[in-house]
Amino acid sequence: MREIPTDRGIDNTLSVLFEGYRFISNRCDRYQTDIFQTRLLFKKTICLRGEAAAKVFYDNEKFSRQNATPKRVQKTLVGEGGVQGLDGETHRQRKQIFMALMTPERMAQLMELTRQQWEAASEQWERRDSLSETLRERVVLLDAAHEVLCRAVCAWSGVPLPEAEVERRTQDLAAMIDGVGGIGLRYVQGRQGRVESERWIKTILEQIRTHQLDVPEDSAAYAFAWYRDPAGNLLDLQIAAVDLLNVLRPVVAIARYITFAALALHEHPECRQQLKDDAEYRELFTQEVRRFYPFFPFVAARTRHAFEWQEYHFPQGVRVLLDLYGTNHDPHLWEQPEEFRPDRFRQWDRSSFNFIPQGGGDYNVNHRCAGEWITIQSIATTLDFLVNSIQYDVPEQDLEISLSRFPTMPKSCFIISNVKRI
Ligand code: HEM
Repeated sequence: MREIPTDRGIDNTLSVLFEGYRFISNRCDRYQTDIFQTRLLFKKTICLRGEAAAKVFYDNEKFSRQNATPKRVQKTLVGEGGVQGLDGETHRQRKQIFMALMTPERMAQLMELTRQQWEAASEQWERRDSLSETLRERVVLLDAAHEVLCRAVCAWSGVPLPEAEVERRTQDLAAMIDGVGGIGLRYVQGRQGRVESERWIKTILEQIRTHQLDVPEDSAAYAFAWYRDPAGNLLDLQIAAVDLLNVLRPVVAIARYITFAALALHEHPECRQQLKDDAEYRELFTQEVRRFYPFFPFVAARTRHAFEWQEYHFPQGVRVLLDLYGTNHDPHLWEQPEEFRPDRFRQWDRSSFNFIPQGGGDYNVNHRCAGEWITIQSIATTLDFLVNSIQYDVPEQDLEISLSRFPTMPKSCFIISNVKRI
């Protein structure tokens, strides 16, 4: 039996705040290991990195998600009672509601809606520019993408979004994402965003259930309003709202990857021509954006029972973190991981465990992200728009990405100006 290397210190929660996305990798590098134990939030925690680690982490026999997610993440980002905390058959059934939405036809419709929203937004930017020099538009791309995606996903999901509510709903969904790692005001706004959004979505679901609102049968709103479990019961209204929000909120979250994609395009102008001409290259570029830039640092689970793995002993009920960012930057898996190189994905072996920005394993039985295909397509669709539909300048700004802010983004949120439609 091997001893799991132990991190020094009584509790390392503060180090997570300071080192952020690099917390696990820093220790893996320091102790020359892909596994170590530490104390976080005053509890023993085993941290893992790499492909073999991801394989064991997604073994449902060994790990459970019940009570694995910290309260603050539930109060802002994911909500309580949703799919993320379920296990076994109950999880599989709930997950199926999400996966059934992901048909090629339905995803193509979402891309069409997204495309239309980008076109409409750019028309407005251009119009405002021609009105007056003083109004000359500086577009904050992260904010613009939040709104575009909010409009698109509400239309796609059957959730009515009156024009007067667009700003408020977008801000609430964006606050849930931004608030998760915040302290003080940012966290409070995240919680408020969740309270407001759940109230809004519960009203919509009630209207559907009482036939005051008719929504298409293939929409997410219909799916969560009318899903019946094997015993014939509808989902509890609160839980249905949490899980319908598990479609709306993460689509809005793609705005961060879009912002990173625009930044990558700005910093790698040599990729522009190929991005213009070649849809396949747009996908390689998109994959590299998801590998290279930080979004979720790690995911958490608990051991169901004691077991041994690679001669290490895992006790029952211990919290385990899998390093998503670190695995995507693991030098054993990726050549020169700190370089942005879309072409590396030409040789990628498509393993479900080595490239895990949105989790790993199987979509239907594991907790791997239900919206990974939508995410890839949305980034690629937006890249196509950025290179083929508009021209813009990138004014001087602070583009630094802090690895200790969660979730992070370029400090300026990526500003563009002088937008002209081509
Ligand atoms: C789960 C990341 C977009 C729906 C997850 C997980 C991660 C993740 C890390 C957890 C994996 C795990 O626990 O093992 C992301 C990122 C996104 C994104 C970075 C892009 C910004 C989406 C979209 C949807 C979505 C567009 C829309 C449907 C979900 C759902 C789960 C999930 C429902 C829970 C799955 C389960 O517990 O079985 N996502 N996601 N995500 N994601 Fe995403």
